[in-house]
Amino acid sequence: MKRETIAIHVGYDGDPTTKAVAVPIYQTIAFEFDSAEHGAALFNLDVQGNIYTRIGNPTNTVLEKRVAALEGGVEALSVSSGMAAIHYALVNIAEMGNNIVSLPQLYGATYTLLAHILPKQGIAGRFAASDHPDDVEKLIDENTRAVYCESVGNPAGNVADIEGLAKVAHKHGVPLIVDNTVATPILLRPIEYGADVVVHSMTKFMGGHGTTLGGMIVDSGKFPWREYPEKFYMLNRPEIAYHGVVYVDQYGDAAFVARCRTVCQRNTGSTLAPLNGFLLLQGVETMALRMERHVSNARKVAEYLRSHPMVAWVNYAGFPDSPLYPMAYRYLGSNACSLLTFGVKGGFAAGTKCFDALRLFKRMVNMGDAKSLACHPASTTHRQLTPEEQAKAGVTPEMLRLSVGIEHIDDILDDLGQALEHAKV
Ligand SMILES: Cc1ncc(COP(=O)(O)O)c(C=O)c1O
Repeated sequence: MKRETIAIHVGYDGDPTTKAVAVPIYQTIAFEFDSAEHGAALFNLDVQGNIYTRIGNPTNTVLEKRVAALEGGVEALSVSSGMAAIHYALVNIAEMGNNIVSLPQLYGATYTLLAHILPKQGIAGRFAASDHPDDVEKLIDENTRAVYCESVGNPAGNVADIEGLAKVAHKHGVPLIVDNTVATPILLRPIEYGADVVVHSMTKFMGGHGTTLGGMIVDSGKFPWREYPEKFYMLNRPEIAYHGVVYVDQYGDAAFVARCRTVCQRNTGSTLAPLNGFLLLQGVETMALRMERHVSNARKVAEYLRSHPMVAWVNYAGFPDSPLYPMAYRYLGSNACSLLTFGVKGGFAAGTKCFDALRLFKRMVNMGDAKSLACHPASTTHRQLTPEEQAKAGVTPEMLRLSVGIEHIDDILDDLGQALEHAKV
């Protein structure tokens, strides 16, 4: 099946009891055992089935199968937010004394997790000097447990050299974990380029309506955990936290995500609510269509802004003269993502005037909604930083970040036009 069809059908073929065509919301905590013997078989992992929603729920199972298929993975685990997905994917294989090597620019909370939170638990986040795989390789040592990147960075819009990073990671016997939130599997499938684990904030383009938090961890099934029995002992030796199971024996290719579910999720509980699983399924069904419109609207917005006299610069990966273009073209073709930044002539005052005058665009810090969204990083997300720190993070006083929505392009351009007029005075 093609991605458009997978997004609508995989994981659910109608409910055998009720014949419900839409995926039912299984709003239940627990599932009944037929007998003591059946309960024991479920706990022993001798048979498959539902036990307790913290570990798995049939509504969420459909979403997991669908996203795993969309990404070309073997299995997936849904969780309560994108941050929970990233956290679990890392702590599933990294422990005190280990480190994670990352590209330098990341979504803010992921950066904080790696720079400030995991280090307090003895897991160091190491940030490469640039996106180049050679700079990443310099930081890898025997205690590294993963290389981490965003396929398309938020907010910088930089596109990672996934193939190059996968080569470097695999040379040193560690997996590449890729956050594919901004691109979605409609525009880019990191597993095709060597990624071992893909994580998502389902909250953004996947859900697509700005209503529902969720996260996903997709296992490619390709990383050879068995070849590194010491480094990845948690997947190769009996797991004390789960009935002594040896994940690579019991779950084969899906060992990584099985441990995320049965150790991380079972014992710390960042579970996706079944209602949220249902809502995210509604978003996934129309994602391919929405992404098409996001991408084409973003290109028209970028072109409009570039020719506008009040605009100083536009950072859009789809322009051939952009430094982001070579990687964007290699991994996304002509479908550059719908996040872009631009600078209003006249510095901070002009930037905020334009921002305040927006009528259709919603002023907020989210992205990936059907609605067009705008953010002024210097007065919100990055306001606590000094001007020097802001510059290092790629944030300038006059800069606005747009997540271009799927409204009619004429209305989007009208709104930007009238807001830019206000920036003049
Ligand atoms: C690239 C990226 N990854 C992860 C997250 C975290 O997602 P959530 O808000 O669902 O925890 C975000 C949120 O903005 C993001 O932009």
